[in-house]
Amino acid sequence: MKKILFVASEGTPFIKTGGLADVVGSLPKSIDRSYFDVRVILPLYACMNQPLKEMLTFKDSFSIDFDWREEYVGIFECEADGVMYYFIDNESLFGGIHPYGRDGFMEIKKFAYFSLASLYALETIDFIPDIIHCHDWQTGLVPVYLKERFRSNPLFNEIKTVMTIHNLKFQGRWNVSMIKELTGLPPYFFTPDKLEAYHDANLLKGGLVFADAITTVSKTYAEEIKTDFYGEGLDGLLNARSNDLRGIVNGIDYEDFDPETDTHIEYNFNARNFRKEKWKNKRSLQAELSLQQDEKMMMIGIVSRLTDQKGFDLINYVMDELCQDHVQLVILGTGEEEYENMFRHYAWKYSDKVSANLYYSESLSHKIYAACDALLMPSLFEPCGLSQLMSLRYGTLPIVRETGGLKDTVEPYNEIYSRGTGFSFTNYNAHEMLATVRFAEHIFYDRKREWNKMVDRAMAADFSWQASASLYQEMYDWLLGDV
Ligand code: ADP
Ligand code: GLC
Repeated sequence: MKKILFVASEGTPFIKTGGLADVVGSLPKSIDRSYFDVRVILPLYACMNQPLKEMLTFKDSFSIDFDWREEYVGIFECEADGVMYYFIDNESLFGGIHPYGRDGFMEIKKFAYFSLASLYALETIDFIPDIIHCHDWQTGLVPVYLKERFRSNPLFNEIKTVMTIHNLKFQGRWNVSMIKELTGLPPYFFTPDKLEAYHDANLLKGGLVFADAITTVSKTYAEEIKTDFYGEGLDGLLNARSNDLRGIVNGIDYEDFDPETDTHIEYNFNARNFRKEKWKNKRSLQAELSLQQDEKMMMIGIVSRLTDQKGFDLINYVMDELCQDHVQLVILGTGEEEYENMFRHYAWKYSDKVSANLYYSESLSHKIYAACDALLMPSLFEPCGLSQLMSLRYGTLPIVRETGGLKDTVEPYNEIYSRGTGFSFTNYNAHEMLATVRFAEHIFYDRKREWNKMVDRAMAADFSWQASASLYQEMYDWLLGDV
């Protein structure tokens, strides 16, 4: 049995702020368990839901040298859906009201500690993996510490590492002298061929330099990040390591996201009966959100973190024009104040057409995927994107910008050959987006049979984990020299 350990800063069902949690929570379940033993290690955040916390059992505790002091490490464990989860407990570091805080250096401190503590935990949990699979900048120091601090331990000698980039924009950067002090890494690690980048120390860069393999979450994003525009300053390194870099598109959990069995939605439906059933969810969402109740009106959803990555500037630019059309917009999201205020404003201005729900709700997200006709995702960049996959599964057609995983997972409508599962545009341009939304409106209102055939194709598309999990397995085998 090959042993794989995921190290990540979030994972469903325990803690989630975005798509990373979905991946960490669903990919391990999909890996062939007769051949791989996949386990997950996460921080134990004080803000985790109480009922979930109550599922955990205490395993052990010890202390490590970190930031010039002895730092407590508690280990908890729990089995969920057949997967073993471990949690690193340290209340002074993970005690915030949100998993992530605003103080940049404090974030780096939390996750540098988490990376080091995870490695020290391996003997305690009695699981010395063949591969440690790290996710995003928060775990960038795992491959670094493994090389620097654990190589002399024969138990750790053979461990391989994978670094998966879910979002290259966040890298964990801070000035070199403070990171040197904090991490206790020797000075020669802070050179441009290791952790230093543009005069700062960079945790993700450390991970990308020292990992044995690098992946990201779609083929297109794997290409994009080798360019200046999407490379966030690390395109040079990613080009240099391009032989070790692969793009594997994300899947979604087909059990959690299944319109036929979903308990969050009022009217379950499937690919055969959506024509008769899906609209009822729209009616009930219109009632719930105090929108005009008209099931014939096109409803467009947005379920997203509210950050500049997601293309809200484009929406802001043409929102007044869009609201002249016969459409409703339902937004669910939290994030930057600028965008929360923007949607608040439009919901006030067009109260019967726009509903802004500026909070986090798993349940409302499912209702939106089920009730809407289309989902708008005009991202500036999108490593993979899961919302469009969820909406496809519920027969809600995505309208997306052709970037990253959006390009790889949404086939644009082709009127001539009657193909496609959604609508897409190329340039980051507000009127190009508006024209695409209006084209979708035209198909929705004037060519309903064509629309419904597109829904057929969307619901038939397969974005379960099966295919992608086998690509991860292939990579694990390759790393361990078994192919
Ligand atoms: P990202 O990881 O960049 O945020 P993804 O599309 O990959 O984008 O994943 C977003 C995930 O977070 C999806 O599961 C989506 O349903 C969920 N999500 C985003 N915002 C909210 C919210 N306010 N309430 C509930 N779920 C949300
Ligand atoms: C990141 C990306 C998103 C991706 C998710 C899971 O949050 O922004 O595109 O789907 O990670 O990989």
